[in-house]
Amino acid sequence: MTSTSPWWHDAVVYEIYVRSFADASGDGVGDLAGIRARLDYLTGLGIDAIWLTPFYPSPMADGGYDVADHRDVDPLFGDLADFDALLAEAHARGLRLIIDIVPNHSSSAHPWFREAVAAAPGSTERDRYIFVTSGDEPPNNWQSTFGGPAWTRLPDGQWYLHLFAPEQPDFNWRRPEVPAEFLDVLRFWLDRGVDGFRIDVATGLFKEEGLPDAPPADQAFKAESPIWGRPEVHEVYREWRVLLDSYPGERMAVGEVWTDSVEDLARYLRPDELHQSFNFAWLEAPWSPASFRKVIDDTLGTVPAPTWVLSNHDVVRHRTRYAESQPGAGLARAKAAMLTTLALPGSAYLYQGDELGLPEVKDIPQELRQDPIFIRTKGELAGRDGCRVPLPWSGTAEPYGFAGEGVLPWLPQPAEWATLTVERQTGDPGSTLEFHRTALALRRRLRDSLPAGIDWLDSPDDVLTFARGSLICVLNCGTEPTPLPPHQNVLITSAPLTSALLPPDTAAWLTH
Ligand code: NOJ
Repeated sequence: MTSTSPWWHDAVVYEIYVRSFADASGDGVGDLAGIRARLDYLTGLGIDAIWLTPFYPSPMADGGYDVADHRDVDPLFGDLADFDALLAEAHARGLRLIIDIVPNHSSSAHPWFREAVAAAPGSTERDRYIFVTSGDEPPNNWQSTFGGPAWTRLPDGQWYLHLFAPEQPDFNWRRPEVPAEFLDVLRFWLDRGVDGFRIDVATGLFKEEGLPDAPPADQAFKAESPIWGRPEVHEVYREWRVLLDSYPGERMAVGEVWTDSVEDLARYLRPDELHQSFNFAWLEAPWSPASFRKVIDDTLGTVPAPTWVLSNHDVVRHRTRYAESQPGAGLARAKAAMLTTLALPGSAYLYQGDELGLPEVKDIPQELRQDPIFIRTKGELAGRDGCRVPLPWSGTAEPYGFAGEGVLPWLPQPAEWATLTVERQTGDPGSTLEFHRTALALRRRLRDSLPAGIDWLDSPDDVLTFARGSLICVLNCGTEPTPLPPHQNVLITSAPLTSALLPPDTAAWLTH
């Protein structure tokens, strides 16, 4: 990898879940002005780019992934002038900005869906979505990802498809206005200057003709099914690639592509399709050198521009995930996994709060939970609120600087977070935040000199060791301290060394 590679090849991209980053307006919900006020924090952290989750007008049935207008900003988050100011100030600091695009579905409050409901069965308006007449039973057995059937019936008897909440009707991508509309939406934001897009539900756009039943096991994000990964979707990304490449400045797209295999993932990453896809296999890998090594080998052997993801706004935070098999080890493992992630060739997608070592919040009172997954499954599934709790910035009590004094954040923050605030961790050399700052600064210093490949080095069974040019990364997944391989310098460790040994659940960067 060299400095002539496109920026996204080795960027550190920081995901901002807009509702939970920083509230400037005083309503307890994060907003664009809040982000703008914290840009110095982000440059100080050492990231290269920001990914903003949806900030568009929305009834918020799914936290903004139910978009009612793809070309505006919800008043909850500000307005287009706030967006332009944020983008300009990010760019002035050398930060790139990518935004979320949600092409699989709209909000039921989108004008097109309102027109569809008002129009008759069989009309053009209905045909922009997936409406079916099938009597009293839903047209097939498809289930919503959020629980319950994927079909809802209108009073006139027609059913419409929603792979997510009923407030998120799926578009009919076979109708030409739909692809045309999205090309135009992309242009709208590219013309404003965004550096790229994160594509929501990138495998879902087309459904198999005839809408056949899906086998139960296929009712998740899977590569080959009547629902996910239909071949037609690739043509859409080919068109998007042409559009992105027609703009100056290395504009890019990263897909939310859940697949069973790296080969399926790679299909989205052919040279004329998406630039990148999230590598969810990395966050799904259990804590073991063998599973980490397999994901690394599969990825580097198959994926042209790899990404590495440990957490995002849809999954249990990795500090808590890693503690499931070893209670108490979560934070140590989270830091070790991050150091390993940052040593790998490709780009790293960090989720806000990773750098503070935030855990999943598991005890949010039921009546305050907002995720449609929790609501639709009647609490059977906890949903994703626990990884979306607003960030703790300063002070010793809620709202911890996330919002003005006395303002209640949209989800409650735990009392224990007093020790995890940005303010508390800043300047403490032993803090998780300073560890991330140091690791990101080192990565930035080294990256232009590091090759795009790695070499595995011999190591004990519980240890993962690879060299990337002059950098050696060692991760001890075992229960005993392990000797470091021959080296010249220790650049950073995720926990203090005990004599010359690397403790369990610890990673180190060495030079040789
Ligand atoms: C994936 C997004 O990351 C998630 O938050 C959302 O609920 C679904 N797509 C539906 O848009």
